[in-house]
Amino acid sequence: MKKTIPFFDYSHIHGQYSNELTKIILDLSMKGSFIMQGEVKKFEENLSSFLGAKYSLGVGNCTDGLLLAIKAAGIGYGDEVIFSSHTFVATASAIYHSGAKPIPVECGHDHLIDIKSIEAAITNKTKAVIPTQLNGHVCDMDELIKLCHKYNLILIEDSAQSLGAKYKDKFAGTFGIASAFSFYPAKVVGCYGDGGAVVTSDDQIYNQVFLTRDHGRAKIGEVVTWGMNSRLDNLQAAILDFKLSKYNLDIQRRREIASIYDDGLRDVKELVLPAAPNANPDKFEIYQNYEVEVQVASERDGIRTDLKNNGIGTILQWGGKAVHEFEGLDLKYSLPYTENLMRRCFLLPMNTSLSNDDVNYIVESIRKYYNYGN
Ligand SMILES: Cc1ncc(COP(=O)(O)O)c(C=O)c1O
Repeated sequence: MKKTIPFFDYSHIHGQYSNELTKIILDLSMKGSFIMQGEVKKFEENLSSFLGAKYSLGVGNCTDGLLLAIKAAGIGYGDEVIFSSHTFVATASAIYHSGAKPIPVECGHDHLIDIKSIEAAITNKTKAVIPTQLNGHVCDMDELIKLCHKYNLILIEDSAQSLGAKYKDKFAGTFGIASAFSFYPAKVVGCYGDGGAVVTSDDQIYNQVFLTRDHGRAKIGEVVTWGMNSRLDNLQAAILDFKLSKYNLDIQRRREIASIYDDGLRDVKELVLPAAPNANPDKFEIYQNYEVEVQVASERDGIRTDLKNNGIGTILQWGGKAVHEFEGLDLKYSLPYTENLMRRCFLLPMNTSLSNDDVNYIVESIRKYYNYGN
C-alpha cells in the first residue's frame, strides 16, 4: 500500500513531547522569562557537560556563533580561511562578515573536507580552517589537527550538523579553539525558531563571545567592547534543555534507521551509501542527514521522481549547489569533485518520526526501482 512519508514531519516531532513542551512554554510566558534568564545558563551548563567542554554560550543561531567565534579568535581583514564547499553558505558567510576571505576547497568521498585540498590551498595569508562536520559525521581529526599544527592554523569547527557525533570518543565541536552548533528546527536537537551555541574550552574565546553576543556588555549599563545582539531566547533554551535530556534516545534511533537503510540497500550498485554505524571504530555518527549518491548524475531525477510518486520526500542539500557555485558570491573556483558530487547526491528521509515500516517502505521502493529482489 502506498504511504506518505514527508522528508520531515514537524508535527510528529512536537507531538512526541507536546505536553512537556507546551508546559515549558506556558510557564515561562506567564513568568515573563524571555531574555537571558536562568534557562539559558542551565542549558549552557548541560550542553557543556554533554560535550565535555568547558564552556557553551547560547547565541541567536549557528551562523552568528561562527562569526562571533571567528572574530574572537582574532581572524579578520587580510586573513584567508579555508572551508569545504559542500556546506551551507553560512560557513562561508561567517568568514566573509569577519572581513577574512573565504577559500572553498574540495570535499572527499565521505563528503567531508578533503585534507589534501586544504594543504594545496594554504598561502601565507591562511589563518584558519573551518571543517564542517557534515551530516552528523566527523572528519578524520588526527589528520586535520596534524595539518593545523604543521601550518600553525586555527581550527574552528562548524558543528551545526553534528551534535553528539564523535571521533575516537571525543565529541565533534571539541577539537578546535571553538565550534558552533545550530538548533534550527530541523536539526537533531531543534528549537522553535532560530538558535545556536558557541562551544569552547578557551577562556579568552569564552570571555570575548560572552561580551560580543550581547552588545559588548559586561553587565547592564556597562559596554566594554563592540558587540551585537545574538542571544539565545530563554524559551528556546528551555525547549532545547528538555530535548537535550532525551537526545541520547534520538541518536540511538537515528543509528537504527541508518542500519536499516544500510542493510537494505548495500547491494544496490546504483547507489553509494554513507558509512554505516560502526563501520569505522574511530567514528560515531549521529546521522543528521542520510545523504546518498547515484553513480551517474543523469540518473538522479529518475529515482527522486519515482520516490516522490511513491509518496516519499527527498531533498537536495543546499538546493543542489556547493557554496562556490552561487554566482552572486563571486567565488571563482573550480572544484570538479565537489561539483560532480553536487549533481549526484540527495537526502533520504532521516528523523525520529520514521517507523521501521516507513524505512523499509523506502528501501523496498528503491529496490523495486532498480529491479532488485526483496
Ligand atoms: C553545515 C551548517 N552550517 C551552518 C548552518 C547555519 O545554522 P543556523 O541556521 O543556525 O545559522 C547550518 C544550518 O543549516 C548548517 O547545516
